[in-house]
Amino acid sequence: PLADPRPILAAARASGHGVGAFNTTLLEHAEALAAGADAATAPLIMQISENAVRYHGSLRPLALAARALAEAATVPVVLHLDHAEDVDLVHEAVDLGFTSVMFDGSRLDDARNRAVTGEVVAFCHAAGVAVEAELGEVGGKDGVHAPGVRTDPGDAAAFVADTGVDSLAVAVGTSHAMATRNAVVDVELVAAIAARVPVPLVLHGSSGVDDETLARAVTAGMTKVNIATHLNKCFTAVVRARLEADPKLMDARKYVAPARDVMAAEVTRLIRVLNPVAPV
Ligand code: G3H
Ligand code: ZN
Repeated sequence: PLADPRPILAAARASGHGVGAFNTTLLEHAEALAAGADAATAPLIMQISENAVRYHGSLRPLALAARALAEAATVPVVLHLDHAEDVDLVHEAVDLGFTSVMFDGSRLDDARNRAVTGEVVAFCHAAGVAVEAELGEVGGKDGVHAPGVRTDPGDAAAFVADTGVDSLAVAVGTSHAMATRNAVVDVELVAAIAARVPVPLVLHGSSGVDDETLARAVTAGMTKVNIATHLNKCFTAVVRARLEADPKLMDARKYVAPARDVMAAEVTRLIRVLNPVAPV
C-alpha cells in the first residue's frame, strides 16, 4: 500500500537499517521498483525527481502510474517527490497523493533555504505529507562534482530545529550521477551527524558507493539511501545488449521487459544490502 515514510524511517533508524529510495523516470522503472521491493518483502521509497518531471513535461501521468503501483504493492511504498526546487511542484505533488517530498534549497543561500524549507514544511505537514530537505549541497546534479563538501553536525541539528523537517540530506563525500562505485564516504561524519540530529539522515548520490561502504554508512546512522544512476545503468545495459544481439527487434517490449527484470532483481539485492534482516 501507499505509505507514510515517517514510521518506516523511524523504525529503520531505531534498528540501524537502511531503506532504499530509488528513482523512476519510466513506467517500467516504477514496475521494476515495486516488483523488486515485493520480492524483498521490505518497504520501498519510489521517487520522481523534478528533472524527470521536466523530461515528461508533467508530473501527473507518471505519478498516477507510480501511485497505482504503490497502492497495489504488498509492501509499504512511499511516493516521494525528489529534488524539488519549485514550490508549485511540491503543491502539485501533494494534490496527487504523494506521501513525501524533498524540497531542495541547497542552491539557495542559507537564510533563504531555511525560510522556504520552513514554509514547505508548514504546508506539507498540514496535508499529512513528510518533508526532506538538504543542507550542504551534494554536487553532481549538473555535472559539477564537489565531493569535498561537508555538512557540519551542529549546523544540521540547528537546521532541523529551525525548519521542522522529517529527514535531512547531508553532504558526506558522495556526488550525484557517478558511473563507478568508488566514492569515499566520511563514515565518521555520518555517525557524528546522526548523534546530533534527531531525524533520519539521507544519503544522496549513492550510486557512487560500493555495497560494503553502503552497509557501513547505514550502520553509522544513514537511513534513507537514494540510488538512481546505478539502476539506470543496469537497465540500459540490458537494452543495449538485446538490441545488439538482435538488430531486427522492433517491439519495444522485447528489449524493455528483460531490462525491467534485471532492474527488479538489482532492487531486491540492494534492499538486502541496506537491510540484511528484511524478512525473506
Ligand atoms: O536523489 C537522487 C539520488 O541522490 C540519486 O543519485 O543518481 O547518483 O544514485 P545517483
Ligand atoms: Zn539526490
